[in-house]
Amino acid sequence: KRPAGAPDKELARKVTKVGVVGAGLMASQLALLFARRLEVPVVLTDLDQERLDKGVGYAHGEIDKLLGKGRLSPDKANRLKGLITGSLTKDAFADADFVIEAVFEEMSVKQKVFAEVEEYVSAECVLATNTSSLSVTEMASGLAHPERVVGFHFFNPVAVLPLLEIVRGERTDDAALATAFAAGRALKKSCVLVEDAPAFVVNRVLLRLLAEIVKTVDEGTPIETAERAAAPLGLPMPPFVLMGLVGPAIALHVNETLHAAFPDRFPLSDNLATMVAAGKGGVYLPDFTLDPEVVEIFSGG
Ligand code: 3HC
Repeated sequence: KRPAGAPDKELARKVTKVGVVGAGLMASQLALLFARRLEVPVVLTDLDQERLDKGVGYAHGEIDKLLGKGRLSPDKANRLKGLITGSLTKDAFADADFVIEAVFEEMSVKQKVFAEVEEYVSAECVLATNTSSLSVTEMASGLAHPERVVGFHFFNPVAVLPLLEIVRGERTDDAALATAFAAGRALKKSCVLVEDAPAFVVNRVLLRLLAEIVKTVDEGTPIETAERAAAPLGLPMPPFVLMGLVGPAIALHVNETLHAAFPDRFPLSDNLATMVAAGKGGVYLPDFTLDPEVVEIFSGG
């Protein structure tokens, strides 16, 4: 069954090579997913060799883990590794028909990246953005071919979570959208078409919840109490652990985008902002360790 609002799949163009801009946590997970499911060459680009090596190394390491679990044959594992390569320059995208960016969440950076990619790819190449909350329409606005830009928003961990939000910008055409849906299906994701609204649907709902929980902690509730109180809500992991997984900087960024759009409903978290400014990654507070009993509650114990 065609997802609501998805164009006719006959319009989809074939994807034979994929470019990934960025080689960070999200980008390297995406490279792995595209190579594994589409079995086409996937090239990552980043600013320096170290980041590139780390990104390609992550994808290759995950392939080794799948091999170890018996999910891939040695032949297939080798083939997949061969499909994932890195390049410092975007001319490696020349024959790509689908390029996805997962770089820093800043509109001007993403616009610059797409403008650079446009110099190398054909007019039909889809430009997809994995942005968590920024406007797809605005991102496409300065391009020669804004009609090929789509939002393609994955969730962490990419290999595990089934949902993919596909976003149509104001100028996105049916061929680009159909190609995005066909690619999403081939990636074995459950695709939904969402409006180009701040933080789309999932992050708008999730951040409302996280922002409120953070606010209770800002106001003096101990983290452990907030975590325990959230347990009956049915989240798959405790909220502060989830923020660690998403990355506090990303959580703050989505929080800020939503605060700008809906100031009455999305309070800014001073605590989150302070932590990000101090360069703390991965955990909410430096000396915070999760109560093992809370972990047990969340894991069904
Ligand atoms: N990468 C790859 N695979 C992973 C993984 C990762 N980072 N983390 C877990 N997995 C795999 C494991 O290998 C395991 O696979 P297997 O069953 O084939 O061996 C499977 O997932 C289950 O893992 P575990 O048994 O270790 O742990 P859990 O059952 O507790 O699941 C979880 C872990 C999948 C991370 C689960 O806790 C979960 O779904 N958490 C919520 C995540 C979430 O809400 N993400 C959305 C964040 S919002 C976002 O990303 C949007 C952005 O724009 C901000």
